[in-house]
Formats: sequence, structure tokens, C-alpha cells
Amino acid sequence: MEYKNNRLSLDGVFFEDICSKHSTPSYIYSRNEILSNINSYKINIDSDDLVCFSVKSSNNLHILKLISSQGLGFDVVSGGELNKVLYINADTNKIVFSGVGKTEQDLTYAIKNNIKSINVESLSELKLISKIVQELDTSANIALRLNPEIKSKTHPYLETGSSESKFGIAKSELHKCMRIIKNQNNINLKGLAFHIGSEIKDFSYFKRAINFMLDQIKLLDMNKPIEFLDVGGGLAIKYFDNDKTLSIEEFVKKVRMLVPNDINLIFEPGKSIVGNAGYLMSKVLYKKKNILIIDAGMSDHIRTPLYGAKHNILPVRKKSKSKNKFTVAGPICESADYFDKNFRYSLDEGDLVVIGSSGAYGFSMSSNYNARLKPPEVLISNKQMRLIRKRETFDDYISEETGLE
Ligand code: LLP
Repeated sequence: MEYKNNRLSLDGVFFEDICSKHSTPSYIYSRNEILSNINSYKINIDSDDLVCFSVKSSNNLHILKLISSQGLGFDVVSGGELNKVLYINADTNKIVFSGVGKTEQDLTYAIKNNIKSINVESLSELKLISKIVQELDTSANIALRLNPEIKSKTHPYLETGSSESKFGIAKSELHKCMRIIKNQNNINLKGLAFHIGSEIKDFSYFKRAINFMLDQIKLLDMNKPIEFLDVGGGLAIKYFDNDKTLSIEEFVKKVRMLVPNDINLIFEPGKSIVGNAGYLMSKVLYKKKNILIIDAGMSDHIRTPLYGAKHNILPVRKKSKSKNKFTVAGPICESADYFDKNFRYSLDEGDLVVIGSSGAYGFSMSSNYNARLKPPEVLISNKQMRLIRKRETFDDYISEETGLE
């Protein structure tokens, strides 16, 4: 993203031109940035390692197809996400399925599609899989997602590896799981998995989790060695230029160095692939006191109200910073509906802004709260804008509320 003649542009396309065509609020993605992040993973992994994009971060079919075309697989967490990646003909041998609440229907669907791995999160889930494979007289490939009891330093809502967390199998239940697996030859234990959270800046947490897993692998009493270790996602991205984060290259190399070469790796990145590739463009509707009310709100992008996340917001027409502070707020009837309370640009009604690092958990967490219609998604590719999701219409929105007399 750069200013050209004082106008903000992305990969050669001016945001003002995107606004003329698709209005605001709208999500805009850079194909180049997605490809460059994918490449940073690809050139640093071994040939048998796998990168499974975490679909929850962004699930637009066009983006999934682009990612699949680069040879990546997918990490899904629901029947819906599994359906989306099957819809774009993703390679089933590159799909892993995590999640603490998989239903019998979800598991049956995954087993029938013979995906690479169901990452099992509890003893009860394993028992259910065991029942399904017996009933269907088939087999399932699984990994055990363990809870490594590591509380990483991130927002409490983004932390998933501590002993109090609902995620993963507790160490104390592992031997019971192993007994089931050993007694049933149509459950193939292919690997172990962990995911300690999102937005993790300090590699020492990953290192502790990997060492915990390697210890567990040594202790496992198994008929054959495991094929892979799935290290989850969670690598932090830069929301601001001076944020200190590990690059994808450094991260992958450090992980690879810790894990013996006979164990393949699976990475499940979400944010580090699409986070910095996406922007939310919005228009200032009203200015009162020091408050700028914009036309995007928490229904479009909930990260700030939910996690106190800070995103870099830039004016589309270049401006020098003001010494006054402004609040950038959304139109929704909630006091938490704001994007920034320290915004340094004095904008006017009608001016456009771009909210950076919005490619992950932006649109995918959007809702219709306040009966607001979901924004469109636009992909910038070869200096062209491609509408990859149209703006929701009122008819789309009410179409499921059937039976009104
Ligand atoms: N694998 C598993 C099992 C996960 O649960 C997640 C994210 C990922 C991979 C991808 O993590 P990432 O590389 O994107 O950090 N809505 C929050 C993030 C929630 C993450 C949930 N799980 C946010 O906006 O920060």
C-alpha cells in the first residue's frame, strides 16, 4: 500500500477508484501479498511438510481457490468449512479437521471423504470416531491434539494452550486414548497436534510446546512411528510497522530445527497468510466533537471491540497528522463499536479511510447485527479489481426468514 500523488493505492489501484466502483464499506485484498506470504512458507519447509491454511481466518471461495492453486492444504473447524474447501476441489489428502465440538454428522462427513487427519480434541470424540468407523466398516486417519499446558502471552481470548483451556486432550487422558487406538486397527494415528493460540510474538512458547510434544512422542507406546507433528497456527503479524514479530522465514526455520527430520511438519497459518493482505475501506459519515462516525462498524469488523485490537487506519487522501486526537467509531448502537481512540488525522465528512491488517478474521467474523448488510469483497490482482463477493442485498438478508403470513 502506498501514496501516489497523495492518493492511497494498493498494487497499482487507487482506493478512490475502488470506492467509485464498489462504494463503502468494502473489503479489499492484495493477491500479491497473499502469494508472497505463501511463498515465504513454501521456500522454507521440507518437501514432505505441509501448510494447511486456517480457513476460519478468511473463507471466500476465490481466496481459498487461490491458496489451493499454490499447493497448500486447509485446516477446517466445521462441516461448513469442510464443505467450502471440498467445493473448490481441495486435495482431501491435505485437509486437517480441528475443533472441540465436531458433531457426529461432521465426523462422518470427514471420514467418508478420507481427509488427511481429524485432529481429535477429546477422549469422547475419539470414542465417537471409533463408533462411526465400525458402523461404516471403514477407517479414519487421526492426530491427537494435545493440550501442552502452556499459557502463551497474548490476549486471553486468543490463548488456547493452557490447562484451563477447552482445547486439546489433557495429558492425563492420553493413555486412555492410546488404549482405544491400539485396540482398533481402523483408527490410524498419523500424528500429534497442538495450537497454543493466536498473535504469538515470542518464539519461546512455540519452543516449549514443541519440546512437550517431542517428549510425548517418545513416551507413546505405538505400533508404528507417527508421520507428522502439526504445530498449529498463531504466528503474530505486524499491525504497525514498528511491531516486533518473527518473519515467516525465521519462524519456519526455527520450528524445523527443533523437530527431527523423520517427522513431517504441518503448519496451520491463518493471519500470517491473509492478515496483512486485507483492508477495510470506509467513509466518514459524520463528525461531531472529536468523533468521526464511519460507515463500517463492529458488524463488519469486530476485532477492536472483542480483543481491544489496534489496527493502523490511514486516510485515503494523504494528510499530515494533527496534534488533536480523534475517535473513529462505527454506526452501531453499542459503545464498544469503535476502531481507534487515538486517531491523529483531522478528517471531514465524506473522507475515506482504510483500516489495515484486516484480511484475517475481518469478513469471516462479520455479522448482520443492527440488520446491516455484509460488505463486498474485492481482490486486487494484476492491477485489476475483481469483485469476489457482492454486497449483500436486503433480499439476500431476509431470504432465510421464511413463512411470514
Ligand atoms: N489452527 C487452529 C487449530 C486454530 O484454532 C487457529 C486459530 C489457527 C490454526 C490459525 O491461527 P492464526 O495463524 O490465524 O493465528 N479471531 C481471532 C483469532 C482466533 C484464532 C482462532 N484459532 C483474532 O481475530 O485475532
